[in-house]
Amino acid sequence: MRTTTGWRADGPTLRRATLERRDLRPDDIAVRVDYCGVCHTDLHAVRAHTGADGPVLVPGHEFTGVVTEAGRAVTRFRVGDPVAVGNIVDSCGACAMCRAGQENFCHEFPTLTYGGADREDGTTTLGGYSREYVVRERFGYPLPAGLAPAAAAPLLCAGVTVWEPLRALGVGPGTRVAVAGLGGLGHLAVKLAVALGADTTVVSRTPDKAADAHRLGAHDLVVSTDPEQMAAARDRFDVVLDTISAPHDLGRYLRLVAMDGTLSLVGHLGAVTVQATDLLIGRKKLGSAGSGGRPSTAALLDFCAEHGITADIELMPSARVNEALDRLGRNDVRYRFVLDLSDLS
Ligand SMILES: NC(=O)c1ccc[n+]([C@@H]2O[C@H](COP(=O)([O-])OP(=O)(O)OC[C@H]3O[C@@H](n4cnc5c(N)ncnc54)[C@H](OP(=O)(O)O)[C@@H]3O)[C@@H](O)[C@H]2O)c1
Ligand SMILES: [Zn+2]
Ligand SMILES: [Zn+2]
Repeated sequence: MRTTTGWRADGPTLRRATLERRDLRPDDIAVRVDYCGVCHTDLHAVRAHTGADGPVLVPGHEFTGVVTEAGRAVTRFRVGDPVAVGNIVDSCGACAMCRAGQENFCHEFPTLTYGGADREDGTTTLGGYSREYVVRERFGYPLPAGLAPAAAAPLLCAGVTVWEPLRALGVGPGTRVAVAGLGGLGHLAVKLAVALGADTTVVSRTPDKAADAHRLGAHDLVVSTDPEQMAAARDRFDVVLDTISAPHDLGRYLRLVAMDGTLSLVGHLGAVTVQATDLLIGRKKLGSAGSGGRPSTAALLDFCAEHGITADIELMPSARVNEALDRLGRNDVRYRFVLDLSDLS
């Protein structure tokens, strides 16, 4: 075992702690974590943590850094290479989903970057709010030159989570896309949809975000708390990508979907209630997605490098992680906190 330093949950507060990392297996790389995004999923996890005697929780699943060591069978990385890691770090590699390059849908369930069970030794995975991570090289992605490492970190969870459904739903020139919830996922969805050529609108409960929505390339912002604006937007979108982090009435968003269009739910992943008539009227579809397979994650990074897309971030020393989580919970972020882990060295 080797040790590193990171931020471990003790109830809803993160405290600095010494963490163990495995010694490198032949196909592992060690990554010095430089930057890790703060995803709302981290906040959900920390809020649910039960305290010192609860399960070990070190959040963080979108990070960039540098390869510091490579196992003897590693072929894709060398020491010194810039690398990015997302929210899955392993999968069975043999099921139909893995064979199709959709490791995120592995029939044995992919190993999550934190809170997962390592497939070889069963230990709980500890996330990227730490100075070092050890990962199979298969689940590390070369970070393209030209992508700023801090602002690129959120592409690895927030970015790919919205990228896969946008691509799978055929979003391109002429598609009318609405992005509900302008946060970490939402602002990247806007940038990506705009770059794909879609006519893009934001649906937000925060009218103050209108100027940002336009700056990100959206044509319009519909205020979700204004019944008149919501009624005027009825049946207007081929795709509504719902990134809202809290439970909410899907009917209001299904009514924005055009005939034969899709509401893709990627934000709130708990139980939902749907009136069949909200689907029936207009033959609408309800879908979901999450994370990304290896090919689409690599394709996203290439696309972002080509189009100059990264997240709009507020960079903070990792020692301020509790403040970042607190502000994220109050919707006080434009649009992603990224932790600078160099204060852990
Ligand atoms: N599918 C996956 O694999 C996956 C991956 C990553 C994250 N997630 C989930 O996606 C969600 C969003 O994550 P994020 O990091 O983008 O969070 P975020 O930055 O906090 O953004 C969420 C946005 O949702 C809107 N919102 C929040 N509470 C709301 C409420 N009660 N009613 C209506 N709108 C509300 C806000 O936008 P406005 O101010 O514009 O309304 C907020 O900015 C989280 O639940 C997270 O766990 C899922
Ligand atoms: Zn995430
Ligand atoms: Zn599999």
